[in-house]
Amino acid sequence: MDHRNHQKPTSPGDRNRRTFLTRWVQWTLAATAALFLYPLFRFAGFKPPRRPRLVDVPAPLPASGTHASHDFILFATEDGGAKAVSRICTHLGCRLNFLQDMGYIECPCHQSRFTSDGVRISGPAERNLPTFTVTQKVDSEGQVTAFVVHL
Ligand code: FES
Repeated sequence: MDHRNHQKPTSPGDRNRRTFLTRWVQWTLAATAALFLYPLFRFAGFKPPRRPRLVDVPAPLPASGTHASHDFILFATEDGGAKAVSRICTHLGCRLNFLQDMGYIECPCHQSRFTSDGVRISGPAERNLPTFTVTQKVDSEGQVTAFVVHL
């Protein structure tokens, strides 16, 4: 009796098929793992770090010293810089307005009030407003050409 191995030698087509199937299985396992791990990370409170959105505001600011944008209010500071606070009310999310003559930020929905630093003065809102980092763009002569708000 002949007990030698009678397997056929593998052809290049067999190897390609095997490589394809191996890769397909690997990708399927990776996708399945991601599918199960993502909700787990979310449940555990993990948030991937997000890159800040940068918004340019041309300098100088208007004579009022303020600039209201969709997401923030920018205030000129005495040192020639600027500071930015969120324009979204911490009570229920209405868009805030800066009342120039009163000198504070007010919510049109339930009249919560905040200082230009975002500190709560009164109203149903219980938290201060978030503040944003502001950097400057400077030209070759050292003049500030824009304020960059990091949202
Ligand atoms: S949403 Fe601003 S005070 Fe209620």
